[in-house]
Amino acid sequence: MSDATSLKRKAAEAAFAELEEGMNIGIGTGSTAEAFVRVLSEHVAAGFAITGVATSERTEALCRELGVSTKTLDELPILDVTVDGADEVDHDLRLIKGGGGALLREKIVAFSSARMIVIADSSKKVQTLGAFPLPIEVNGFGLTSTFMAIRRLTETLGLEGEIVLRKSGDKPFITDGGHLILDASFGRIPDPEALSAALATIPGIVEHGLFLNLASMAILAGPDGIEMLN
Ligand code: 5RP
Repeated sequence: MSDATSLKRKAAEAAFAELEEGMNIGIGTGSTAEAFVRVLSEHVAAGFAITGVATSERTEALCRELGVSTKTLDELPILDVTVDGADEVDHDLRLIKGGGGALLREKIVAFSSARMIVIADSSKKVQTLGAFPLPIEVNGFGLTSTFMAIRRLTETLGLEGEIVLRKSGDKPFITDGGHLILDASFGRIPDPEALSAALATIPGIVEHGLFLNLASMAILAGPDGIEMLN
């Protein structure tokens, strides 16, 4: 197992320790969330009862393959906890998510959960969000207009940098919801709340990858052990 894979597994095991039998849980997307599904499946195989709501088609397929039982969010609209990865986490548990393109369902599921536990390797901890390009999920209708509105509004906040349409091969990347993603490389986002409020005013934006006031704990696995932020 590579160092990175073993750190993700350690974070996933620590998150499993936060669960109780019979819980209804949100299950995130990405390689760290996948490590969590693998840990979970081993306990399920040993008789641990839990039901998950997957945040993507990809996670749903993995749960099915590994025998973790899932329901839809409409069947289980209130969840005890969501366990998910992140692209960046700061000291106030503010996150950038969406590197795997699942930010909309991830945010809906996290919002429906009493708690959100973030699992990551320690490289994801940052002083200031923004080195990782911010994913912004947009409707395909009026893409150019939405793009220009994002550029205009973010410039008024002093944020500059490349904004690119995410591709999958030579085609636009399409989310599970049928939308597009713009990745905005601002470098630093000193005021995530102001940016989040500004983006919420643009109708073509479906959702963005700033997760504010959603995470209640971050479990960060590093070479020297686990760090918990809460
Ligand atoms: C997917 C996400 C992922 O949680 C995020 O990209 C982290 O992924 P990984 O665990 O593979 O580094 O937000 O939309």
